[in-house]
Amino acid sequence: MSNVARSALAAAAASVAILLLAPAAYAIDGEAALALAKKNSCFKCHTIEDGKEKDGPAYKKVAEKYKDKPEAEKRIIEHITTGETTKFADGHEEEHKIIKTSPPKDMEQIKNLVQWILSQ
Ligand code: HEC
Repeated sequence: MSNVARSALAAAAASVAILLLAPAAYAIDGEAALALAKKNSCFKCHTIEDGKEKDGPAYKKVAEKYKDKPEAEKRIIEHITTGETTKFADGHEEEHKIIKTSPPKDMEQIKNLVQWILSQ
């Protein structure tokens, strides 16, 4: 086999390896997550990165808090779908915003957003 053919073969093998490895992680659609969060005004109270303090924790902080916690996804889905009582920095409490999707209660979209938050 020529050197050219050999390196082409090696390159092909490498791409197959990448393709096999990629789907192991949950395929998060970051653009869809951002769009859904914007539509729901999540960024009124949350930032992605630390820095500017808003009423809610930055998503990076949320991801840190739930790192390696197996119940993270379930817990956050509950948090953004049930309107549970939320404590604000100034001490007052109100029901957390319930996420709206179209079609309503689309778990695929909600899970995608939650996984995106957890990947920050
Ligand atoms: C009116 C302000 C406000 C809006 C709008 C808002 N949040 Fe929050 N959110 C908060 C506050 C305040 C907390 C802190 C709750 C606590 O620590 O008790 C919080 C906490 C969270 C947490 C962390 C929960 C946990 O268990 O640590 C997540 C995740 C979250 N919000 C996601 C969202 C998403 C997604 C949206 C948009 C659908 C959203 N929030 C919209 C104020 C808001």
